[in-house]
Amino acid sequence: MDIPLILAQAFWFMIPAYVANPTAVLFGGGKPMDSGLHLKDGRRLLGDGKTWRGFAGGIFSGMLIGSTQHLSASFAGAGQFAFGSPFQAAFLIFLLPCGALLGDILGSFIKRRAGIERGAKTPGLDQYDFLIGAIILLLAFQTGWFLRIYVLDGAIIGLIFIVLITPPLHRAVNVLGYRLGKKDVPW
Ligand code: CTP
Ligand code: MG
Repeated sequence: MDIPLILAQAFWFMIPAYVANPTAVLFGGGKPMDSGLHLKDGRRLLGDGKTWRGFAGGIFSGMLIGSTQHLSASFAGAGQFAFGSPFQAAFLIFLLPCGALLGDILGSFIKRRAGIERGAKTPGLDQYDFLIGAIILLLAFQTGWFLRIYVLDGAIIGLIFIVLITPPLHRAVNVLGYRLGKKDVPW
């Protein structure tokens, strides 16, 4: 069991998902995804914090980074850091940011149903919604790959590793976004 390799792969392959969240903030604005819809509970379906521009921009950015990672790993002969065959790579590179932002949307949906205002701090959900979304899509559509990279033969320590580093990473990126004036709140 090559622990440094497991940890490096676990982080490396999650980068397109990690990138989607902050880039959604950079691109965000304009028409909200829920078009202002209120549910019977009197609250918004998702709220003004989830916009089409943010969603598309985040997915695009994650795919751009993922493609760059895949191509550089392939050309450098570092097959263990490539995302697989061209078809599988394209699919994974799409699934990761897409899952991240769907998880983020699900997080907002849950927050609104719980009566939490848009932008309010929600420990746990804020840090993990995107990671959970990415993992659900990987489990559903790339089961074998997910099990190999994040679960089987000791790879579970890679999953534990990303679960542990996600909150501080999330915090650091959000503080940066806040200082740069891209986020209204540092969480
Ligand atoms: N954003 C966006 N579209 C998305 C995700 C994020 O436009 N799909 C932008 C919005 O400007 C949002 C900001 O990124 O305000 C921060 O994202 P996030 O913290 O996820 O949203 P919140 O405003 O905190 O709203 P919520 O309470 O629903 O999470
Ligand atoms: Mg928020």
